[in-house]
Amino acid sequence: MSITTEDERIGIQQASDAVAITLKKMREFARPGISTKELDEYGGQLLAQMGAHSAPLLTYDFPGHTCISINEEAAHGIPSAEKILKEGDLINIDVSAELNGYWADNGGSFVLGKDIHGHGKLVEASKEILKKAISNIKGGVRISEIGRLIETEAKKAGYTVIKNLTGHGVGRSLHEEPHEIANFCDRYNTTRFKKNSVVAIETFISTRSTIADTQADGWTLTGNKGGFVAQHEHTIMVTGGEPFIFTAQNGIWD
Ligand code: CO
Ligand code: CO
Repeated sequence: MSITTEDERIGIQQASDAVAITLKKMREFARPGISTKELDEYGGQLLAQMGAHSAPLLTYDFPGHTCISINEEAAHGIPSAEKILKEGDLINIDVSAELNGYWADNGGSFVLGKDIHGHGKLVEASKEILKKAISNIKGGVRISEIGRLIETEAKKAGYTVIKNLTGHGVGRSLHEEPHEIANFCDRYNTTRFKKNSVVAIETFISTRSTIADTQADGWTLTGNKGGFVAQHEHTIMVTGGEPFIFTAQNGIWD
């Protein structure tokens, strides 16, 4: 959506605060020994307390309030009582929700406790790449240029990007125009970022894979060549200068 009134700006900010606070608190709640289902139920409670409704549940009938992807799961992991968190796990939590007709989306990968498997470098690269990508977005910039930047930075750090998972417009629904803000230079995409538009920018940085494939459960995605994937996502408003970050409270860059 494009923000044209103060009410709209406040509406997006409130939805963004709900998803950002939920993401931050879920990350703090995560600890070895609990299941991803417990973590998701905690997130669901937080959203409900703030009057927000889980977007994946509303939009796609997803079996959970949030997506929690562990280790080789790249995205859209289903919360499960059988999946128990362990020290050193690479965890991605993605929280998106609707509040009063406004939608916001954010996510982040992190290492649980001590980094015994060495996932930290991938996580840091993804965070830094998101920062760099967002700081280069302003009205008039081609979407494909930001994709080029993300892929170039990933390569420099020794990583690949997932090509079939993308950022997207957000605001009046979970996914809206522009539908594909890719992590590579899609030269067929001649669209430009528009001033005052609300978009979710997300990285999908991998140690090896380039495509995310759907698993037998119909939801969970894993890399086509294995390895690991890190994702970080903010909902922002495009301006004539530095974008405004609605989900800053999630603390994914801290
Ligand atoms: Co998301
Ligand atoms: Co998103």
